[in-house]
Amino acid sequence: MAELLELAGVSAGYGRIEALSGISLNVPEGGIVALLGANGAGKSTTLNVISGIVPASAGEVRFRGQSITRLRSDQVVARGISQVPEGREVFRDMSVEENLVIGAQLRSDRAGIARDIAVMTGYFPILATRFRQMAGTLSGGEQQMLLIARALMARPSLLLLDEPSLGLAPLLVKQIFDIVVALHREQNLTLLIVEQNAAVALAVSQYAYILENGEIVAEGASATLAKDDAIRRAYLGA
Ligand SMILES: Nc1ncnc2c1ncn2[C@@H]1O[C@H](COP(=O)(O)OP(=O)(O)OP(=O)(O)O)[C@@H](O)[C@H]1O
Ligand SMILES: [Mg+2]
Repeated sequence: MAELLELAGVSAGYGRIEALSGISLNVPEGGIVALLGANGAGKSTTLNVISGIVPASAGEVRFRGQSITRLRSDQVVARGISQVPEGREVFRDMSVEENLVIGAQLRSDRAGIARDIAVMTGYFPILATRFRQMAGTLSGGEQQMLLIARALMARPSLLLLDEPSLGLAPLLVKQIFDIVVALHREQNLTLLIVEQNAAVALAVSQYAYILENGEIVAEGASATLAKDDAIRRAYLGA
């Protein structure tokens, strides 16, 4: 499979704090890759470097074989990468519909935008029933769904998900992941999923990387990692 996204020796930090120390990882076109690790490991920093929100201090980020290392975040979105940031930030005083329209702000094809809103409310029926409701009044799970749908309104080929299961009940986590996997299959969407919930992430992904203190300490086929005793003890509470 051709690599859609490649990180080669990427470092990044905040002032004197080094958050990423030369990490390399690949996401093949059409794949689902998980990035796992404990609090503070550098997972969100990795996604923010890809998205052009945090600058890389070393190394290169390539998308479709071209360097995107120094692009601004809007330019990264225009290339086809959208991120669902950690911790649910919907536009609270706007309706569900307005939130979805904002997700398409870099597009000008009005008919296509309307069609994609219909596609999204098809995948997330709860958003159809809450269409004119203020986004701030949605439940946590509904807000997470809206964030994913909003990110997809940019028509990305790669979606970066930062801890989609955070703070959600297990049943809701399963529901959201089922929809994400359906989108992956039916909409030709490649996924890089950051999770602390390793069990869920290993179950849906084909390949996974484990990040510790800004370094990749293990990687492999998700099914293999899920059976690995050391990984199970450290990340699966087994
Ligand atoms: N804006 C910031 N300013 C200073 N340090 C930061 C900033 N953001 C993150 N860091 C530091 O960088 C390191 C990596 O943080 P990061 O948010 O990438 O971790 P994470 O793996 O996403 O953790 P979590 O699972 O808690 O979200 C941490 O030590 C954190 O304190
Ligand atoms: Mg994080």
